[in-house]
Amino acid sequence: MLAVAVLAAGKGTRMKSQLPKVLQPLAGATLVERVLACCRGLAPARQLLIVGHQAERVEASLAAVAGLEFVLQQPQQGTGHAVQQLLAPLAGFEGDLLVLNGDVPLLRAATLDKLLDQHRRSGAAVTLLSARLANPSGYGRVFSDGGGGVSGIIEHRDCSDDQRRNNLINAGIYLFDWQRLAKVLPRLRSDNDQGELYLTDTVALLGHATHLEVADPDEILGINDRLHLAQCEAVLQERLRRHWMEQGVTFIDPASCTLSEGSRFGRDVVIEPQTHLRGTTSVGDGCRLGPGSLVEDSTLGAAVEVLYSVVRRASVGEGCAIGPYAQLRPGTVLGERCRVGNFVEVKNSVLADECKVNHLSYIGDADLGVNVNVGAGTITANYDGVRKHRTVIGAGSKTGANSVLVAPITLGENVTVGAGSTLTRDVPSGALAVGRANQVVREDWSGAAASAGGSAAPAPPPGSP
Ligand code: UD1
Ligand code: CA
Repeated sequence: MLAVAVLAAGKGTRMKSQLPKVLQPLAGATLVERVLACCRGLAPARQLLIVGHQAERVEASLAAVAGLEFVLQQPQQGTGHAVQQLLAPLAGFEGDLLVLNGDVPLLRAATLDKLLDQHRRSGAAVTLLSARLANPSGYGRVFSDGGGGVSGIIEHRDCSDDQRRNNLINAGIYLFDWQRLAKVLPRLRSDNDQGELYLTDTVALLGHATHLEVADPDEILGINDRLHLAQCEAVLQERLRRHWMEQGVTFIDPASCTLSEGSRFGRDVVIEPQTHLRGTTSVGDGCRLGPGSLVEDSTLGAAVEVLYSVVRRASVGEGCAIGPYAQLRPGTVLGERCRVGNFVEVKNSVLADECKVNHLSYIGDADLGVNVNVGAGTITANYDGVRKHRTVIGAGSKTGANSVLVAPITLGENVTVGAGSTLTRDVPSGALAVGRANQVVREDWSGAAASAGGSAAPAPPPGSP
């Protein structure tokens, strides 16, 4: 039997943030979500999260995680005190307890498998993860008894100068024999620099302790401040890009691009510099994204191009070309081979195949049939100050430059709208609609004004009263 406990009650003072440390995001997931995710494969019988500082906020953020038990630690008197809170909920539990620090987010599931394996084979009371770090500063140091066992852990701040030279550090990940741990937990004392109860002190009390040194020290980076957060983000981004390069994605300048865990790519995708994918985004075969683009929570079909543009919660069909300088906002659905070009914003609109919105337009709350050509500067006036209304444009229609379509309005199929029109009424299929002031031309206007000495009032245009 295996139980997992994640320590997430601390304030994270060194982050200097309103947000509890374990809720800080890293490549789109919070620290605690990442920690919980890395032990999911072990299928633990019990999953407990120790909360304290801003407990409600931490709990609310994890409300969707099935089977998670929240254990309150109030006040927070150290990691040992945190695990003491499990004595009641785990009373009678027989088996192993995996303890994970909520601020160690890069741990790999495979490493936990190894830890479990070594622990069960050795029969130790505790097996902990360790690492050799070039800069071990801030971490607890692991002291071994010479035979692969661990004699004790001393926190950085409690170490002598000599002890600080030991670069074998405690990762904050432990497998305990719960029954044996439960016996020593009440014996913890707070005679250390912070005056806290340290979980690490149980190691010396338990007697039989071993450690597993991780091969890749990046895995056990613990986050205490913003510097660590940036370091972990860099490691994570590197891992994500490497993974996708192995799957056939080209990055022109990998270090300038960021991905989310929920990014998915087909084959032969090219990611140009300064391009960022966030949330749950899937990118079809042969797409070319960037330079300078952001794609979030969106689905792109094959062979889509996105150039210097922002795409959010949108679905883009095969062969579409977006940008430069376009914004597709939530609810945008583009069919195949559409073009949405320079300085165009589309929101909550469905464009069927082969629509073109090439220049300087706003298309909001609209439905466009196939092969609609939206002229430069066309605006759907979707908001009357109180409510939003829809614009419908039938297949094959064309709007002239600078048209304003005041919604709700429906244009039939193959409609032509004259340039500069402001339309407020529906237009039937096949019609031409022009809604603008007639042009007035007065020949020799400047000459007539000059011969009248420049003082005569010009004659009114024809048709005036
Ligand atoms: C801890 C270890 C240290 C190890 C390092 C690895 C102890 C005493 N020290 O130090 O040996 O090298 O992790 O990253 O355990 N927490 C609670 N309740 C509390 C205090 C902390 O739940 O009362 C939680 C925090 O939210 C955090 C985790 O425990 O997720 C670790 O706490 P932190 O204060 O960051 O410990 P470190 O000083 O990093
Ligand atoms: Ca820490």
